[in-house]
Parts: sequence; C-alpha cells; structure tokens
Amino acid sequence: MSTTFIFGSQWGDEGKGKIVDFLAKETDYVVRFHGGNNAGHTVVNKFGKFPLHLVPSGICHPKTKCLITNGVILDLEVLLNEIKLLNDSGIKTLERLFISPRCHLIMPYHKILDRLYEEAKGKGKTGTTGRGIGPTYADKVSYNGLRVYDFLNKKLFAQKLEIQLQIKNKVIKALGGEPLSFKSVLRKFTPYRNKIKPYIAETLSILQEAQLKKKSILFEGAHGFFLDNDWGTYPFCTASTIVPGSINSTCGLPIIPSRIIAVVKAYTTRVGEGPFPTELENKIGELIRQKGNEFGTTTGRPRRCGCFDAELVRFSCMVSGATEIALTKIDVLDELKEIKVCVGYKLRGKRVSYINGDAEFLKNVKPVYEIVPGWREKINNINEWGDLPSNAKNYIKKIEKLVGVKVTLISTGPERWSTIIR
Ligand code: IMP
Repeated sequence: MSTTFIFGSQWGDEGKGKIVDFLAKETDYVVRFHGGNNAGHTVVNKFGKFPLHLVPSGICHPKTKCLITNGVILDLEVLLNEIKLLNDSGIKTLERLFISPRCHLIMPYHKILDRLYEEAKGKGKTGTTGRGIGPTYADKVSYNGLRVYDFLNKKLFAQKLEIQLQIKNKVIKALGGEPLSFKSVLRKFTPYRNKIKPYIAETLSILQEAQLKKKSILFEGAHGFFLDNDWGTYPFCTASTIVPGSINSTCGLPIIPSRIIAVVKAYTTRVGEGPFPTELENKIGELIRQKGNEFGTTTGRPRRCGCFDAELVRFSCMVSGATEIALTKIDVLDELKEIKVCVGYKLRGKRVSYINGDAEFLKNVKPVYEIVPGWREKINNINEWGDLPSNAKNYIKKIEKLVGVKVTLISTGPERWSTIIR
C-alpha cells in the first residue's frame, strides 16, 4: 500500500489541484480530510474545467474513489451543485464519492456570523472567504454543531436547528444582522436530504478496507501550511489543521503517509489580510498576478503576489516532514530578467527565523534577498527536464538547496500533460 500526502507549503493556491489530478490516475483513493469550500482547486482535463471546492480532485479519474472524511465541513448547497456539474459533464459520482456522516454542516447562520465578526473586527479583520468556516469549526469544538448524522434524522435535525437558531439569532441581532427564520432554513435544507443520502458512508471503514487490500491512498490537503490554525500566521489563518499528523483525527487512520509532497509555487501569493514579508506591490507583482491568473477560485479576489520565500517553505517542509517538492507555475516567471529569492529574514540587523515570533513579528522582519538570472524564454508546456533552459534549471536547484528537499515534479502549465517528472 502506498500512502501519499499532498499539502500546500505557502498560503494556499499553490496549484495542488493539478498535482492531485496528475497523481490520482495511479491512485485508488483520494481523500479530502479538512477545511470546507473555502478551498478551491481548478482541475483542467478532457472533460472540461472544474473549479472544485469540496469534491476531491481525483473524481475525474474513473477508477479512483473519493472520500470526504469527518474533518471536512460541508456547505450542502455547494456540494450538491458540484456533484451536479460533474454528473452533467459525464463524470460519474455515485459509488465513487463517499461522505462521512460525522462531517459538520455549514449553516446559513455561520455565513452571516462570519461576515458580522469580520465587520465588527474592522481593521483587524482576517479577510476570510466569507464561507462560514471559522464559525462552523467554532461550533464543532463548542458542541453546538450540526452533523450529517443529525441531518439524516429529520426530527432531531429540526430540534437541534431550532435551538441553534434561538442562540444564533440573538448574536446576529446584537451585531446588527437580520435574524433567520426557522421555517425558511428548514425549507431550504429539506430537499438536500434525499440528494445527499446516497453519498453518505462511514469513510473510516472504507479506508480500513483499502489499507487491508493494500490500495494506494492520497490525502489531499486543502489550503496552505501558513493558514494552519496552529502553525500559520494566526489570526490570519483558517480554522483547520493542515499537517500530516492530523490524518489520525480527521480520517481515523493512525498513520503518517510514506510520501509527503509539498506543493510549492515558484513565487509566493496570499489572499486576505496578514503579514507577507516578500510582497511585491509594484509592476513585477502585477505582472505575476496577470500572468499567473492570481485571482481567487473561491472569491475571485486578486491575490497578493511576491517573491519566493525560502524561509517559509523551509519551515513548512520541516514541520510537515516533506519528502519531496512539486514545484508549480514556474512558467509565470518566464519574462523576468532577474528573479529575487528570499533566503531568510533579518530583524534590527540580526538573522531571525519564522519560528521566532507571531504575525506581528512577521510584519516587521526584512527579507534577505539573493538575485538569480531569469531565462527569458517560454517554458510553457515543456514536459522534459532536459528541455528546460539552464537558468530555469538553476532556479529550481536553488529552491531545492535553500529548502533542503528534492524537487521531483515540475508543473509548467495548467494542463495535466505540462508536467516534468524528474
Ligand atoms: P476562512 O478560511 O474563509 O475563514 O479564511 C481565513 C483566511 O484563510 C483568509 O485569509 C482566506 O483568504 C484564507 N484562505 C482560506 N482558504 C484558502 C485557500 O484555499 N487559499 C488561499 N487562502 C485561503
């Protein structure tokens, strides 16, 4: 049995979806184990272009089974729309997609609260995706959540919903929002029940059987390491945990995967608020944004763009135990005459590391840069290492050396075939 874990090593949007899609053809099971529809993976293949927020990216491979385990939170409306889009495009989902009944539901009041908290925090806001992620996970850990199990039980769901609405409407009103009516929420959710039922299954049992039969399993991390609730730039982070060790609590399997792939973008981006030491608020940042189409899959927001930050990637690879790197979007840098790479940080003249402080500290560090020559030719769609210009090879080797992890996959374009296996 091979177990592979894929995670974003920066602030998300590293191009994980493409790498998962690329590897999924060899994989029996692809597992989404945390986060919600704040994640967005775009998969491009012969069936079309699929912006997937909840369904694992492996769904486009007919032999691959996809699981959504108990660590994931579900917006049923979004999930059912995704399932419909896939089915309408000729991709079968029944008996291929399995959803844990232990998943918590993102309810309409979670989305309202997400917005109201952000407004109340004013300048200190996180810049969330507005999908109700933080409030849903907060309800989960404070025993106020509604799970798929509850939803499948009509009477219990109505009872729990009524209680939650009594509590939530008080908070919503206090923060100046419009309270929700019990009847309208119930009416909205009722038709979802029969649609989602055929997909519900105990995912731990499926994974245990897969293990027994020595099947290959790929765990698809959503978001990026620096959005991790513990290790990220708190409070400018998301509400779930991204490290490989979380597979035990979010899926039930007591394992650390044998292959841990860090998806690393050849530069850095982030959406939302928070510190970003290598941010480029200039022409080069804009060029990267346009060429790299750096606009959120989930919200459409322009992403903040900056230089490659080796200090960050070194840290995320170290904590996650990365065994290899999949480097993405290197073609976006084609036009640059020279490329600045951040090799570490300084604060008041002294070398410091990411681990030395919090988000406030990171706001004040100064990147230490080294400049490497660009290659100034199109490398888009190259799929052989030998065909890369030598300066592009040197840039990749530089990243490898700074991070201390081998680059084994290089993506030179959005399509599945624009991939170099090294
Ligand atoms: P939330 O997850 O919607 O609560 O947002 C919290 C922070 O995480 C915000 O800065 C979001 O922009 C960011 N975020 C959440 N998911 C993603 C992702 O998949 N890619 C990039 N940023 C994300």
